[in-house]
Amino acid sequence: MQASRIAIVGAGRVGSSFAYTLAASGLVREIVIVDADAGRAEGEAMDILQSIPFHRPVTVRAGTLADTAGALATVITAGAAQRPGETRLALLQRNVEVLRGVVEATVRANPGGLLLIATNPVDALTWTALRLSGLPPGRVLGSGTVLDSARLRVELAAHYGVDPRNVHAYVLGEHGDSEFVAWSTASIANMGLPAYCSATGHACTQEDLDAIALRVRNAAYEIIRRKGATNYAIAASLMRIVEAVVRDEASVLTVSSLLQGEYGIRDVCLSLPAVVGREGVRRILPVPLSVGEISALRRSADAIRDAAAGLG
Ligand code: 2OP
Repeated sequence: MQASRIAIVGAGRVGSSFAYTLAASGLVREIVIVDADAGRAEGEAMDILQSIPFHRPVTVRAGTLADTAGALATVITAGAAQRPGETRLALLQRNVEVLRGVVEATVRANPGGLLLIATNPVDALTWTALRLSGLPPGRVLGSGTVLDSARLRVELAAHYGVDPRNVHAYVLGEHGDSEFVAWSTASIANMGLPAYCSATGHACTQEDLDAIALRVRNAAYEIIRRKGATNYAIAASLMRIVEAVVRDEASVLTVSSLLQGEYGIRDVCLSLPAVVGREGVRRILPVPLSVGEISALRRSADAIRDAAAGLG
């Protein structure tokens, strides 16, 4: 297993943005780009390669699913994206067929690698990929709410006038309409939000927090309505997850992974804070959640299960 090789399946906006971000990072030595449209994969590889003199040396090449062999992780971005106003769950039937072929061929070529799913609906498809792959649960993960938690940190940083890197807050559950903010776990400068507000004189009204949570939940719809898709922030989210894997960082990230009894929930993939390293998800951290937050988590689990119920 080469920590220096990452495969990316899907050379659309998300896959190509991630490929470029990864190439520019210098994190790995080889990137393989796979797409059903081989010309598209070749074009993206050629274009990224021509940027390399401005970065550090990395091999970027187009390949087939067989070329995922030896990759530490295969990042799956292939599939249809949301149309304006369309929910992520509405993509499930279309994208599960795409995923089925990709997962089976990738696991055949690279049984020792991880699968990182970005295709939406990411939770239901992470769960499907896990079942199709036959891999141990930690080795199949999804981008989950890593992006949503980043969006939340940007919103809170703007609201409270601090660096987003000093805001610690999680969006949990479904990467979708049933996601929720675990306000009870949010902190700035090691202070819970109420303490931060009393210490700084900032307003901390429920109205403000509700408005922030709504903007985070609707962020993708607002961007898709304007530019047709999202790609940069999801690419950066994938970069963060892959960095934790390649460097074996044991980073806590809200990736989507299989719940096996946490909060009484099992047999569904959704996002909770998890320790991510070379082997994928090392463990889920059962952070203390309020009664309301646990109910919201269960609602997310039900939404994902209901959507996936019709799948074979
Ligand atoms: C996003 O949240 C569309 O799931 C994608 O940006």
